[in-house]
Amino acid sequence: MNPTNTSVAELSGNGQLVYGCDYNPEQWDPAVWQEDVRLMKEAGVNLVAVNIFGWAELESSPGTYSFDRLDQVLDLLHAHGIGVNLGTGTSSTPAWLTTLHPEILPESAAGVRAWPGGRQAWCPSSPRYREHALRLVGEVVRRYGSHPAVRLWHVSNELGCHNALCYCDVSAAAFRDWLAARYGTLDALNSAWGTAFWSQRYSAWDQILPPRTTVSTNNPTQVLDFHRFSSDELLGYYRSEAEILREHSTVPVTTNFMVTAHIRNLDYWSWAPHMDVIANDHYLDHRLDSPIVELAFAADATRGLAQGQPWLLMEHSTSAVNWQPRNIAKVPGEMLRNSLAHLARGADGLCFFQWRASVQGSEKFHSAMLPHTGTDSRIWREVLELGSILAKLKEVAGTKVQSEAALIFSWEAWWAYDQESHPSSDVRYLDQVHALYKALWETGVTVDIVAPGADLSGYKLAVVPGLYLVREDEASALEMYVRSGGHAVVTYFSGIVDENEKVLTGGYPGAFRNLLGIRSEEFYPLTPGQTLALDNGSTASLWTEATRLEGAEARASFSEGHRAGTPAVTRNRYGAGTAWYIGTALDPAGIREVVAEAAGESGISVLDSPQGLEVVVRSSTDDGYVFLINHSDEEHKYAVHGHELITGEDVSHVVAIPAGAVRVVRTANPESPTHGLRTGQKDDESD
Ligand code: GLA
Repeated sequence: MNPTNTSVAELSGNGQLVYGCDYNPEQWDPAVWQEDVRLMKEAGVNLVAVNIFGWAELESSPGTYSFDRLDQVLDLLHAHGIGVNLGTGTSSTPAWLTTLHPEILPESAAGVRAWPGGRQAWCPSSPRYREHALRLVGEVVRRYGSHPAVRLWHVSNELGCHNALCYCDVSAAAFRDWLAARYGTLDALNSAWGTAFWSQRYSAWDQILPPRTTVSTNNPTQVLDFHRFSSDELLGYYRSEAEILREHSTVPVTTNFMVTAHIRNLDYWSWAPHMDVIANDHYLDHRLDSPIVELAFAADATRGLAQGQPWLLMEHSTSAVNWQPRNIAKVPGEMLRNSLAHLARGADGLCFFQWRASVQGSEKFHSAMLPHTGTDSRIWREVLELGSILAKLKEVAGTKVQSEAALIFSWEAWWAYDQESHPSSDVRYLDQVHALYKALWETGVTVDIVAPGADLSGYKLAVVPGLYLVREDEASALEMYVRSGGHAVVTYFSGIVDENEKVLTGGYPGAFRNLLGIRSEEFYPLTPGQTLALDNGSTASLWTEATRLEGAEARASFSEGHRAGTPAVTRNRYGAGTAWYIGTALDPAGIREVVAEAAGESGISVLDSPQGLEVVVRSSTDDGYVFLINHSDEEHKYAVHGHELITGEDVSHVVAIPAGAVRVVRTANPESPTHGLRTGQKDDESD
């Protein structure tokens, strides 16, 4: 990763934390640009993303380029010391291109071709699209590759946001090539896909199609491979743009990921090594139970993709978005809390979509740094406040988040887990991930998000939510970790199939049976709303299974229903470590209890109950920075010595964090992120 060795703070131009936004000057008259740069300076903006949707303006007809306006924008920004994160402009095709070549437009599983008129309407495998897009990339990089304002290349935009899965004939041919490279022979493919079932055997490559709409259910391995192919196809596209950029420019190259709850089509573990800087877009999702916990998860996952290095938040919002059913505006102080939660979890830069709120187009009700109301507004005042706080937090740049726990997360497992024809359509991968992560968040445990098979030796605790699909070496890595003294918590519907979606037989969960010391014979999902009491006071829903102990002890059993007396939560001593199994969907307090006990046993200190105070520590070799984000309506106190960077006050023993506020305390480098710091929040412990 990172062949250019770029640190995020370098992108600010002077080692500051990055503060910026998407800037779409093509939507405005040049007279407005002057006011824009003046206000950007006032806010402390140091990096803006331009030309994200610039294609139609740059190339008004095939091969006719006009760079005058973009020249002016880049020169103006440069004259004001504002750096540019330069889009290649290929994200949305101009109308002339899809009029000339409608075959570029992507096709749905049902064979319906999308129309132009929105954005990102192109088939990731289309050679015609690539020809035109890469020609534009060449023009842009030859013109701006050495422009002094340009600090970062922004390939396309949110690749795969709308068009990740295309089922057209061109995609079908590319899918077959991908399959031929993966399997080599048709026999190998037939065997991996289990085509003996339902007479699906292929006798020639050209019979194979993407998993288009059928009258029944599709072959699950075909569906899974189509996801893998589609992720690889867009990554291949990214790489072809990056190759041209690197040929003509030494500026670092990236694209904005979407590590978020509602987008799942790209396996970013395979993408990350190709980025010079890891960048993510994140928006609070009010369709979820706990949007701020999901924000923390996404930030931690982005840090995982960056292998613990600082990363860049390329987009978030100052207030409401426009694309959820109800677009909830942020309350005063919320934008600061969200921003510093990203920073606490390893971001060295915070950017927004977008600079100036649009007055036309479908995003005109999306918030921006400069709202429709103008500068006499709460949002603008909070934008100025955030800019000044980031300047005060400059020394945090380059420091690393320390964590003693890991959560194994897999996009592949997500694709496989959520397929049709499973025991219950009510159990979803991300729900399990979020439930377990939330329990850790509420007990105050900072978590690194890692890929299956990752080296876990540096962690005291590893949690494994719903790892339905797992390879043999990935399962062995977890087993080895526990055998040599690690602590693991595995949840239901983990370790069920191999990488080809083939069931691991002999009792569930095939891959983790020995590790967990249990054997389950059958799954008994519950009906919606049905719950079962456990003998430890917890409540189970959604899922049960017929579990037999084979070395493990039962830590909680069902106390009612047809599963009464059988284990629901187990704990197994394995080698020098322990492995817990949560074999049902526990209520939040129940999950917290298990996680807290496992964490405690592993030597991680935990909070007894949710406090609404988010505590994360970043540290360098000399200093620790304790981020304290108070999401609650009451003041909290936290025991720590040092210097508070936002108020500029020294802290001896205890810092108070007013309701809704954030504090960042520089302290002598804590030996570990938790020990000696989490000593209780509500009482003054100075004595
Ligand atoms: C994405 C896109 C932006 C904008 C925002 C709105 O992140 O990259 O262009 O559409 O969503 O939230």
